[in-house]
Amino acid sequence: SAENGLDGWLRYAPLPYNDQKLPAHIVVLNTTEASPVYVAGAELQNGLKGIYGTHAEVSHEQCENSSSAAIVGTVEQYQIACGSLNGVPELDEDGFWLSTWGNKVQILGQNERGALYGAFEYLSMLAQGNFSEVSYASNPSAAIRWVNQWDNMDGSIERGYGGSSIFFKNGAVVDDLSRVTQYARLLASARINAAVVNNVNANATLLDQENMKGLGRIADALRPYGVQIGISLNFASPETLGGLDTFDPLDSSVIKWWSNITDQIYQRVPDMAGYLVKANSEGQPGPLTYNRTLAQGANLFAKALHPYGGIVMFRAFVYNQLNESNWKADRAKAAMEFKYLDGEFEENVVLQIKYGPIDFQVREPTSPLFANLFNTSTAIELEVTQEYLGQQSHLVYLPPLWKTVLDFDLRVDHKPSLVRDIITGRRFNRKLGGSAAVVNVGSNTTWLGGHLSMSNLYAYGRLAWDPADDSQSILQDWIRLTFGLDRTVLDTITQMSMESWPAYENYTGNLGIQTLTDILYTHYGPNPASQDNNGWGQWTRADHTTIGMDRTVSNGTGFSGQYPTEIAAMYENIDTTPDNLLLWFHHVNYTHRLHSGKTVIQHFYDAHYSGVETAQTFLVQWDSLKGKIDDERHKAVRRQLDYQTGHSIIWRDAINDFYYNLSGIPDALNRVGHH
Ligand code: GCU
Repeated sequence: SAENGLDGWLRYAPLPYNDQKLPAHIVVLNTTEASPVYVAGAELQNGLKGIYGTHAEVSHEQCENSSSAAIVGTVEQYQIACGSLNGVPELDEDGFWLSTWGNKVQILGQNERGALYGAFEYLSMLAQGNFSEVSYASNPSAAIRWVNQWDNMDGSIERGYGGSSIFFKNGAVVDDLSRVTQYARLLASARINAAVVNNVNANATLLDQENMKGLGRIADALRPYGVQIGISLNFASPETLGGLDTFDPLDSSVIKWWSNITDQIYQRVPDMAGYLVKANSEGQPGPLTYNRTLAQGANLFAKALHPYGGIVMFRAFVYNQLNESNWKADRAKAAMEFKYLDGEFEENVVLQIKYGPIDFQVREPTSPLFANLFNTSTAIELEVTQEYLGQQSHLVYLPPLWKTVLDFDLRVDHKPSLVRDIITGRRFNRKLGGSAAVVNVGSNTTWLGGHLSMSNLYAYGRLAWDPADDSQSILQDWIRLTFGLDRTVLDTITQMSMESWPAYENYTGNLGIQTLTDILYTHYGPNPASQDNNGWGQWTRADHTTIGMDRTVSNGTGFSGQYPTEIAAMYENIDTTPDNLLLWFHHVNYTHRLHSGKTVIQHFYDAHYSGVETAQTFLVQWDSLKGKIDDERHKAVRRQLDYQTGHSIIWRDAINDFYYNLSGIPDALNRVGHH
């Protein structure tokens, strides 16, 4: 049905206005079907019809400057059709100009993609009942605004919670790519310009002849929306697929094999965005096998891509298993390997760096690698899929978490050095940079596995475009587009969403101890014991009297010394370390007093109770919206929140009991251990 979710935030649900001034026709400055500008025209027509029930005629090419027309195209197309253009500033790549004057509307892109973004912007205004007269240019903060899909060739999705792959099945690209086109539409409306379609733990069979044809079809399905494809590569492919006896990145037969593969891909996908490479990480093959550096590994692909303008996203998620009995061993330090390679990467290599040094935890300090690369381009890696964060069964609106990193000032050379200015290339004068998010939508009609989770995808795109944007105002655009303009609906979903990440942190792992979920298999549900006594390095070092990782230089792993001086000093000193990262940086007694005045253990107990209390309000709040949202979506979300209410209690009791049993310290309020 119309409410099932496939349109996401692009529903164009009817609004109760009929006397507003709307364009009576649409002038589309490109006649080529399946071009983004052409698509923009059709989208405008559908939107006007859906939202306001009006029919706008579409015409092509002839300039139309009369009132009551919306004109859409690139700046260049406009100049050819209409002559000179006044008052529009120079636009950056993918940028757009939007001007509305009564029912006269001008939507001009720097390129076709930008024009489509402008059309979606105008439609977003209309769908929110916003008829204000505007005239402004909007430009992206960075060129890389990608999503990653961890889809396997057999159709499963690693860490995907919304069903099976929309791209692959049984080792091949699926025949029916209509869902891929619908995905492209959502991505384009969030201004995302590329999608890596297969898992970073890549299977070389993606590169066989049949699958290369399939990649061509995927690219064709995404292209009308200005979304390019990228692919993940398996470093050992020359051996496993190509039959060579080596995959040494400096071996001439290997170099030739990759450049040949690259040529073949570009024959099918002339606009491929580039490659994503996970090498020498978690069992994946890489250059270290041949004593070559990670930079030499990355440059192998960079050189093959260079003639085509493609880029290599090379992942900085590289670490080894460690021995916990070594007090100084620390997985968080591993990525710093890249610091010593700074300047050795080709210009079209971008290091893709997870926001924190471990792995998508509920709270982590900013990865210090962002502050240690001055001659290498970087992008931040986020997760829209809620791997450690409730896997779409828990409402967790993620932007406030992302913002703790994007807005963090690393104080490189004692100068303002916000992460968002580093990844956009501004701070260190890099041409390339941006964001990637692991999304993992699937064939489920809600895409991610729950209607409310879509706010994270929408917000990701908005923040990739402008990382200085505000989490709550982005959220509210999404709510109005998804659920309509009712004030109570807006206020309620805003409150639930904005409280959701802090609540999840409270009932899972607080004070910087990580999520405390099972890390060995599922990454789901409470399992604080799974963090320690193994080589994964997500340790808490909890024993009967103490807890936390000592990452100081003076007495611990030395991780805090990876930050620029001001930040290093803040984390080195327990008195200046914020409570919410205390156990990330320090090993303390359970009876240690926080800045808040509470002991660590009492904070654990209290936070777990308060997180659950907040989570329990979600269901009540949602129930108050019954009748204000269609039944189908109301019921579906209700089922999920009902589950979350119960699961948050399981979390609370499992974690509190665990630390109560370990420490033997009673809860001052006498709640723990008595249920
Ligand atoms: C996490 C995740 C893995 C994934 C890895 C990565 O550890 O659990 O499934 O492969 O990150 O980002 O490469």
